[in-house]
Amino acid sequence: MADEARPEAGMTRRCLLRCAGGVAVGTAALAVAGGPSVLPVAQAKESPTPWPYKKLDPAEVAAIAYERYPSGLCMNSVVAALITPLRASVGEPYASFPADAFVWGHGGVVGWGTMCGTILGASVVANLVCGPGPLKGGELVVNELVHFYAESVLPTWVPPKPRVAAPPLPAKPGSPLCHISVGTWMKKANHGFFSPERKDRCARVAASVAAQTARYLNDWSEGKFKPQHKFQTVLYDVTSQDNCAACHRGEAPEAVTTGNP
Ligand code: HEC
Repeated sequence: MADEARPEAGMTRRCLLRCAGGVAVGTAALAVAGGPSVLPVAQAKESPTPWPYKKLDPAEVAAIAYERYPSGLCMNSVVAALITPLRASVGEPYASFPADAFVWGHGGVVGWGTMCGTILGASVVANLVCGPGPLKGGELVVNELVHFYAESVLPTWVPPKPRVAAPPLPAKPGSPLCHISVGTWMKKANHGFFSPERKDRCARVAASVAAQTARYLNDWSEGKFKPQHKFQTVLYDVTSQDNCAACHRGEAPEAVTTGNP
């Protein structure tokens, strides 16, 4: 029996997780060895944010996002686009940061049509680079990015080697929501959701958002980032964007204010 597989031979915590094949087995083995009966969670080490940063090349970042899109989709392609050059230029903690844990934002979170995955992906990295919120650090960049996304005619980026010959008709999403952004574009461009044109449009949007994030982060790192917008935490007594008529036809309902300060 190899030493690694014998608990009494001083099994490390790492080996427990890797070779004992389960937490129940692992904790039992620790108890036998006279150690604590629960895994020492408090000893888990975090890499506190903000993380070190080196300026990114927005064109390089956009190209990585566009290439990554077919396999990783919107959220993952933006995370990978921003993290990959930082792995090379900074190393850790980016080197071991798992970009593949951030695929789930596609389709506005596994197809629910809520927040666009490109914004979610960019927000993950902005908070690593600029530090945590609430309403400060990376969230200042996130707020600008949501404005950029909703108010720009997207995509802004044109790939040097496009996968689809005809450029997708750009459209202003008017909202950070996947459903509204994609639906507005589909109506304008007259392409279905599963068309190559729609996929190419979203890949180019991912590249555009990744490049814009790189510009914001570069400005941040030089102390030149100047937010143009205030946080819009609560509007009309409810968390919202100022586009009530997009969904509520005619008059938007008044919010119930009972219990509000
Ligand atoms: C993306 C679509 C969407 C947008 C944009 C939107 N709403 Fe709503 N809102 C809904 C849905 C869906 C409900 C659920 C109830 C319903 O269907 O009316 C709701 C519910 C509400 C409610 C609570 C229910 C009620 O009737 O009292 C209020 C208040 C409200 N919205 C106000 C607003 C205001 C003000 C705005 C603009 C700042 C706004 N909404 C923008 C979709 C939207």
